[in-house]
Parts: sequence; C-alpha cells; structure tokens
Amino acid sequence: MRFQHLVDAVKAGEAQPAGDLAQFVEGVADGSVSIEDATSWLKAVHQHGMRTEDTVVLTKSMIASGASLSWGEGPPVVDKHSTGGVGDKMSLVLAPALAAAGCRVPMLAGRGLGHTGGTIDKLEAIPGFNCALSPEAMVEAVNAVGCCIAVQNDAIAPADGVLYAIRDVTHTIDSVPLITASIISKKAAEGLSALVLDVKTGSAAFMQTVDQARELAASMVRTAEGLGINTVAQLTAMDQPIGTHIGNALEVVGSIRVLQGGGSPDTRELVVLQGAALLCMTGVCETEAEARSKMEAVLTNGAALERFRAMCVQQGVEPATSKALINHPERVLGMAEFQTCILAEEDGYVEGYDAMQLAQLARQHGAGRFALEDVIDPLVGAVIAAPVGEAIKRNDPLLTFHHTRPLEENDLRVLKSMVSVSPEAPVSNRRLIEVVDSTSTKA
Ligand code: URA
Repeated sequence: MRFQHLVDAVKAGEAQPAGDLAQFVEGVADGSVSIEDATSWLKAVHQHGMRTEDTVVLTKSMIASGASLSWGEGPPVVDKHSTGGVGDKMSLVLAPALAAAGCRVPMLAGRGLGHTGGTIDKLEAIPGFNCALSPEAMVEAVNAVGCCIAVQNDAIAPADGVLYAIRDVTHTIDSVPLITASIISKKAAEGLSALVLDVKTGSAAFMQTVDQARELAASMVRTAEGLGINTVAQLTAMDQPIGTHIGNALEVVGSIRVLQGGGSPDTRELVVLQGAALLCMTGVCETEAEARSKMEAVLTNGAALERFRAMCVQQGVEPATSKALINHPERVLGMAEFQTCILAEEDGYVEGYDAMQLAQLARQHGAGRFALEDVIDPLVGAVIAAPVGEAIKRNDPLLTFHHTRPLEENDLRVLKSMVSVSPEAPVSNRRLIEVVDSTSTKA
C-alpha cells in the first residue's frame, strides 16, 4: 500500500508528512486510493486519534479537493453548524433572520442522520423547494436574497463525501478529528468570516456527555480558527426536544411560527443566542445586548419572515405558494392522516419529554431513514401542547403524535411513557451549558 506509512504514523501517534497526507486526500477524491486503503487509514484514526496539526492538513486538503465560494465586498459571510438534535429547526429560522440582520448566509446542510432530523429533509417538505444548488447558484441566491440553504454536494469537499460514505459503513463516524475535518472543511469552503457551532450534549445527542461535547467543540474551534474563521462553539442541552414541533413538515410549521413573531420561546431563544454570537463576532453589533435586540427585532417585525419567503422563491417555490406558506403553513404542507393525543393522567407540572424515545418512534413511523434509500414521510412527527414546566390538570392534552399508519399497542405505551409529570414545578433548565472559543482552547 502506497500510504501504509500514514497508517503506521497514526498508530504510533506520530506526525503524518503533510505532503503525503494531502496526496492521500487528493487520491481519495479522484478514486486513485482504494476503498480498502482508505478504510485502513480511517480505522487507524478512529482508534488512535490524530494530532491537531494533521487534522488541519486533512481539513485543508478536503477543502482543496473541491470548489470554494468567493465573495466580493459586502456584508459579513456567516454560518452555523449543529451536531444534530431532536426538533432542531434553528437553521430554517436563523439563515433568513441573519440575512435580515445584515449578513450573507450561504448555508450547506445535511439530511437526517440516525435519530436526528436534517435541515434538507425539512425544507424538502415544502412543495417546489430545491436544495440542490451548484456553488454558482449558491452565490447568486445569497447575492439576491441574503441567504440560501443547499444540500452538501460533490462540488464542495468531494473528498469528504467519499470518506463520509466509507465511515458510515465501517463504524468510524464517531471520531473527533474525522468529524472536525468533515464539518469544518465544508464550512470553510463556504468562504466564511464567522461561524457558530451548536454542539449538542445529552441523552438525545451524539455527544452524550459534556466532556465529549467539549472535546469536539475545542477541536472544531481550533481547526476553524486555524483556517482564519472567527469561531465560537455553544454547548447546548439535548435531552428535551427543542420547541413544540418535531418532524419534517411540522418543524417547518414551528419555524414559521417563530418567524411570524410568536412560536415556541425555546426555539426563539436558541436562534437569538446563535444569531447574536455571529452579529458580535463580525462587528455588525458592538454588544451582546445590541445583537440580541437586533435578532429579536427581525423576528418580531416580519423582516426575517420576508427573507424566508424570498429564499423559498429563489430556491424554486412558486410565489403564490410562498405567500400561502408563510400565512397558513399547514394548508400548504398538509397534515398526517392520524393524530393521537396523549392526555395527562394526573395533575402536576410537565417535567419533560424524552427526546430520544420520541425521535425513535417518529423514525419508525417514517420521519427518518434506516437505510440510505428509505423515503421520508414528511408529515410524521409530534406537536407538544404542554411545554416543560407547564401546570397541567388530569386529562389536559400533553402531546399529539402525527402518523400515517395506525399505532400499535406498544407505540401507545412508548408515547405515554415518554412524558414525565411531577407534583412540583421543575427548576428551569437553560439550553446553553457553556461557550468554547479560541481563548478557552489555547493550551
Ligand atoms: N456531519 C458531517 O458533516 N460530518 C461528520 O463527520 C458528522 C456529522
């Protein structure tokens, strides 16, 4: 094997020669490195980790394997990445809100992974919405309306596409250096000046402990900063679903409610938190208070909603449909044939909903995939009627599950068991756990 010395270096914890690592990545992208050789290297990295310097070389080589967006003079170019959660619809609101607040947002996003939903699957619930944009179409869309949301494609960081597909079937996904290079290469290729990372932790996150989340956050911040992108990571709790709407089409509804100026305070707060961080990092606002109030203003005054509508039209939605969508989203998106409401069995306070159980049930009913070729059912999901902390009486509605095939007895049992009710009001838990930035990652 031509690259055996790289595998040996990884196993010994030694530096991989930068030129050879770059050639290896180039070979992965053009197909001259065999799948077996790429797999040996991935398995070695997955097992032994990789030095920070090599993670930076890997990331730069992945960027060089495809196109990078370039931008003329104008507003700052920003984006965010989330490591994935349940009800995590932030991108749908954040991209247009940041565009309305004076930024350019060329967002690349993915499909659902495991139990977590994907931004692209949600947007594809909107009739006509086209996420398959070329790099040129992304630039055109951002120059026209301030933001776009496109699916990751072969034009940008194609080496990541090949390695990711191999990782998926060789159980080498959960590796901090590999996740770092994969995510940061795609974000850097967008030509960003600032990036906010939402690193989720908790029972329904890939990083279940705060320590794991902190390690991934620090690695991504160090690597992105090394590439000249001003970056902050926010560690946020992912035990409870975010907001009231969960599921692909339902999350579009939940996002539009927030863009209309109402919606779930939980969802709105995360959008404001992430957006305000970017407005401060890019100097659009001088203080956090000013940045927060700018985000609140564009959500309240309809400016973000109008950018969302314009983005939909730019990405293929009929203008009449876009107008109907932002006024009456359910009418445009449709509703599942069956809706099963879970009622409170006793008086008390809602203590929580088990996000992992809810996501797994929704996935079994078609909200997510088990195999690459599975087709998503956009209408499956849930709407929470009584958010965490709310006082409830026996027989009050707690949650409605939306489904397109009848529930089995066990599904009902699971649905009932995922809600916990307490006689005492729970102490309110904030989503934000910790911020990791370049100062906290310095040795
Ligand atoms: N998302 C990505 O794009 N890459 C990873 O490695 C993990 C999540």
